[in-house]
Amino acid sequence: MRDELEILLYGDPRLRVHCRAVERFDDELSALVDGMIAAMAREQGIGLAAPQVGRDLRLLVARDHRGPLPTVRPLVNPRIVFRSPERAGYSEGCLSLPDITADVERPVRIRVEFQDLQGREHQIEDDGLFARIVQHEADHLDGILFVDHLGLVRRKLLARRLRELAKRSQPA
Ligand code: NI
Repeated sequence: MRDELEILLYGDPRLRVHCRAVERFDDELSALVDGMIAAMAREQGIGLAAPQVGRDLRLLVARDHRGPLPTVRPLVNPRIVFRSPERAGYSEGCLSLPDITADVERPVRIRVEFQDLQGREHQIEDDGLFARIVQHEADHLDGILFVDHLGLVRRKLLARRLRELAKRSQPA
C-alpha cells in the first residue's frame, strides 16, 4: 500500500524536531517500519529514523549484526539508559547528509530499552556497530544530526557542503 518513502535532506526543518512517543502499536506502525526498512535498503543504509522520512515519531530501524544472521531491528520509543564512560571515534554518515562522512566520538557501550512492534519491552546492551547505529539514530529523534557532534574546525570544513545540501532540500 505504501509507496517509496522519501528521505529528507539536511536543511529540512522536520529533521530538527523533538519527536513524540509512539502510542499506537497498530498496522499503520508496522507499515511505516516496512517502508523505512525498504527506504534504508534502497539507499544501502544501516539505520534510519522516522523523522528522516518526515514522521514525527520516536521510532528507528537499525541493522543488527549481533546474531549469526544480520537482521534489521525496529526500536520503538528507544531510551538509552546507560552510556559507558569509555568513548571511541568512528566514521559516520547519514542518509540525510549524502556523501558526507566524519569521525564522531561516542560512548562505546550502551544499554537501550525499547518496545517492539507489539509494544513489548526489551533491552539490549552492546558495544559494537549496533550500539553506534542506535546512538546515531536515537539522536535523530531529538533533532540532532551527527555533524552537530563535530568540533568547530571540522564543521567549518564541511560548511560549504552543508549549505549546498540545505539548498537542495528547499523546494525549487
Ligand atoms: Ni542519520
